[in-house]
Amino acid sequence: MARERIVTGNEITPEEDQVFITLRPDSLSEYIGQNELRDKLEVTLEAARQRGEAIEHVLFYGPPGLGKTTLAHIIANEMGTRLVATAGPALQRTGDLMGILTNLNEGDILFIDEIHRLSPVIEEFIYPAMEDFKVDFVVDKGAFAKVINVPLKKFTLIGATTRAGLLSAPLRDRFGLYYHVDFYPAEDLARIIIRSARILNTSIQPEAAQAIAERSRGTPRIANRLLRRVRDYADVKSDGEITEELACKALDAEGIDSLGLDNLDRKLLQIIIDYYKGGPVGIEALGATLNEEVDTLVDMVEPYLLKIGFIQRTKRGRMASAEAARHLGLNFPGKDTQQRLF
Ligand code: ADE
Repeated sequence: MARERIVTGNEITPEEDQVFITLRPDSLSEYIGQNELRDKLEVTLEAARQRGEAIEHVLFYGPPGLGKTTLAHIIANEMGTRLVATAGPALQRTGDLMGILTNLNEGDILFIDEIHRLSPVIEEFIYPAMEDFKVDFVVDKGAFAKVINVPLKKFTLIGATTRAGLLSAPLRDRFGLYYHVDFYPAEDLARIIIRSARILNTSIQPEAAQAIAERSRGTPRIANRLLRRVRDYADVKSDGEITEELACKALDAEGIDSLGLDNLDRKLLQIIIDYYKGGPVGIEALGATLNEEVDTLVDMVEPYLLKIGFIQRTKRGRMASAEAARHLGLNFPGKDTQQRLF
């Protein structure tokens, strides 16, 4: 099940949360990769600092584990403001949000993770807060119902989402700044791994960092997680020094192949290729065959397989590529077979 995967971008355990905070860069100058985004953000922050103003509302979108939360913390640090963090599914009642909003000070940052999962009622409630820094709060019921207009301090909302397409247009339009966070090239991940190893007091050879990076699916959170698994392996099976050979052995033992694919990825590809003759196959059918939630497949499994060209999303469903079959050592169903079947 996805919960146990070590190559997923999200699903952070509490103890991992602690390590995550230790490894997280606090400033833009420490942040590795996403150069274009970083340059743009630097200008925005400097301009806001010069004017003594809060920055506009920001939306970060992209696959899980790429640093959206980290960037929100960096913005708060760079602006010298407080960050209050919550998540779309945690905000159930307008009262929950009312309490948070009225406690924000001038320039504070409200970070809402998984903002695409806000309920419609909360979304409606948040519009005037974002636009005019006020909320309309209904007290009492029926004939006694009253709308109280509550002014708010000028705060910045930072939203993060893995699915920008699920955001309603009115919510999307209320953000002033949009930043797409993309998968990291292996060279950037190798630098992140070397930085993390230094913080964790672990000795790692550059070739080993590169080998781990290449299996990290373009995702820093996965890179840091694999580094910790390899570090355990080095401590137990060797003298603690992480060499390339040891890193590869440790990751092979975890079932993570040369491209960073794990059992679930391989199973998904194998089902499309063998069972559905290369596709197309609907995501619901894949979820049912794999006994996995569709959201897990869409958020955590597919993005990287799409990125490396192993699957394609078409109107009629998902299709696997010949490269995917080659990587798994499977026969790729020829055109004839597909025409006969579909
Ligand atoms: N740790 C996780 N992501 C990072 C990044 N982008 N730069 C530096 N360290 C990181």
